[in-house]
Amino acid sequence: MAPRILRRLIAVAPPGVRRMLAGALLDVKGLPARLSDPKRRAEPWAFVHNVGDGDFVAVGAQLVRHLNDHAGLKPGDRVLDIGCGNGRVAEQLSPLLAEGGGTYVGFDLSPAGIRACRRRFARQPHMTFEHLDVWNGEYNAAGKLAESEVVFPAADASVDLAFATSVFTHMRMAGMRRYLAESARVLKPGGRLAFTAFSLTRGREGSETFAFQPFDETSMIVDPRSPERAIGHWRPAIEAAVAAAGLKLTASHNGLWAPPSDYDGGQDLFVAVKG
Ligand SMILES: C[S@@+](CC[C@H](N)C(=O)[O-])C[C@H]1O[C@@H](n2cnc3c(N)ncnc32)[C@H](O)[C@@H]1O
Repeated sequence: MAPRILRRLIAVAPPGVRRMLAGALLDVKGLPARLSDPKRRAEPWAFVHNVGDGDFVAVGAQLVRHLNDHAGLKPGDRVLDIGCGNGRVAEQLSPLLAEGGGTYVGFDLSPAGIRACRRRFARQPHMTFEHLDVWNGEYNAAGKLAESEVVFPAADASVDLAFATSVFTHMRMAGMRRYLAESARVLKPGGRLAFTAFSLTRGREGSETFAFQPFDETSMIVDPRSPERAIGHWRPAIEAAVAAAGLKLTASHNGLWAPPSDYDGGQDLFVAVKG
């Protein structure tokens, strides 16, 4: 009953409220797992910061496997998690990095997400989290900093592996260009950037779940009320942006969001290297 009322409200609510209600629905769905396993009771609540569908542990583990299989993740790496959300990737990365002497910095525009991460990893000095008050129409419509002005919280040439999972799928191309340039700045020579996207090509420009419609010359969106809810970028624009940032694309995989796919991730995966 409660989930049905929530679903109705979700359909009509403005973006911030919709995300919170959708998060509450996810929390209701996740209650059995949370209650049956004492280790999971302290996991972040999705109504506080909703990073999307799926189980906190299972999705985090899958994303770390992708970083391992496709982006050469190593236990001694210095990693930067761009848009780290509520720490579902951090949760799975932390033991690996602790063992290998690696370090982690995650940043996000959500104060609630960063607070949850800081609480959770308070006793793990190799894991640090930064809040940046960046504007995003879906996640932070009152944000003070434009995406095109963001400076990543990392020194030049200090990072082995930077990654952005399910972040560029909420950013317009101008912001994405800036984030690619910032990735190039902070990566060491030979460092890798892994990111996911909905990359659009003729014949693969939408699906049942993601009914993309035209937005601008580089991108399509699903919800004109909130373009940042889900954004797809034309693949040539992604490739041009990667090259303009001084990065070299070394691999890409089509995710399950639209057939045909060639790996088990939901979104398309790109890996680029700094020369
Ligand atoms: C779908 S969630 C994914 C979170 C995390 N990367 C993960 O895979 O669990 C998208 C995240 O990107 C963050 N985000 C969106 N735009 C951003 C921006 N311009 N800068 C930093 N974070 C951003 C949101 O706050 C949210 O936490």
